[in-house]
Amino acid sequence: MVTNLAFNNSISEEPCLYREDVYDINKLDNRHEFKGIIGRCSRIYEVFRTVQKVADSDSTIIINGETGTGKGLIAKAIHQSSYRKGKPFVQINCGAIPENLLESELFGHVKGAFTGATTSRPGKFEVAEGGTIFLDEIGDMSPELQVKLLRVLEEREFERVGGSNTINVDVRVIAATHRNLEKEVKKGNFREDLFYRLYVIPITIPSLRERKSDISLLVSHFMKCFSKNKNKDVAEISDDAMAIMMGYSWPGNVRELKNLVERLVVLKGQGKIISCDLPEKIKGEAVCGKMPGMEISKEGVCFNTAVSEFEKSLIFQSLEKTKWVKNEAAKLLHLKRTTLVEKIKRYDLQNHST
Ligand SMILES: Nc1ncnc2c1ncn2[C@@H]1O[C@H](COP(=O)(O)OP(=O)(O)OP(=O)(O)O)[C@@H](O)[C@H]1O
Ligand SMILES: [Mg+2]
Repeated sequence: MVTNLAFNNSISEEPCLYREDVYDINKLDNRHEFKGIIGRCSRIYEVFRTVQKVADSDSTIIINGETGTGKGLIAKAIHQSSYRKGKPFVQINCGAIPENLLESELFGHVKGAFTGATTSRPGKFEVAEGGTIFLDEIGDMSPELQVKLLRVLEEREFERVGGSNTINVDVRVIAATHRNLEKEVKKGNFREDLFYRLYVIPITIPSLRERKSDISLLVSHFMKCFSKNKNKDVAEISDDAMAIMMGYSWPGNVRELKNLVERLVVLKGQGKIISCDLPEKIKGEAVCGKMPGMEISKEGVCFNTAVSEFEKSLIFQSLEKTKWVKNEAAKLLHLKRTTLVEKIKRYDLQNHST
């Protein structure tokens, strides 16, 4: 029975490995980009900061976030920021490989271990020697394999399937899941001991709904990228089209937005994207008058957080529309300037485009 699954978010820093220069967040402010990851909202900056702090620590990391939020990108960024960056980064999707094959994919097998094993083969852990292994969708792993993984995490050793030689590896483990592992533990689907072993450093990537202020930045970024890659010339989007995109709930997160922008750029070819160009699904949500982030999932929503996020999104939009002239932004929202300023402070909203 799990009694207390509160995560320990504190990170033990190793002074000898801590590099003040790479921890300078102001360097990120200028580009809104960190190792290919685009973002400017405070929660994404917090993720960037954590990545830089923990990169060299060798501690096990678990990345949590909805599908398409960028868990894979963050895992790569951790590897690239660490002293292991010259060594392999090996990725395996534990949910996509049939259960009976996953063990040999991870740990390798010896010749004759099973039908079809005509030669010995190293697994991903051996291939990743000296580097990082990224275990994606770890919540989908079977209980039998969870035991074996626990041993690797604790002892850094294992045997190939069918083999008796113990193999030692020096590999950093990063895992990711879209599931709530705490709940999976309570349901008995995920081992409690493995859960605690994995949750050394948890990193949670917020959904796009929770960071609306990143939407316009991501749209511009992808418009530029796809215009260049596809030899098109679409560099602008109208205010009303952007407003519709800001109001959409993005269940597929950044992946969904990226794919949509690709489609819009390819179909439009040149000029400005306008609201008519947007798919009905996205316009439909806006027409229904749903507020951003107001989709209530089976688990429910935290009312106070949802209201704050909506307030923050409105304030951010008004500031962006008025190029951060607070008097004008306050007028757009029918607020007193002092009230607006107080809210900007409270939500720590910053103008990163200056
Ligand atoms: N902040 C971001 N900046 C730029 N591109 C991003 C960002 N977040 C995600 N992407 C892009 O969106 C797509 C999905 O990202 P990624 O595969 O890392 O998500 P994920 O959380 O691992 O998704 P899944 O749970 O489905 O595996 C990729 O093409 C990635 O490059
Ligand atoms: Mg992924």
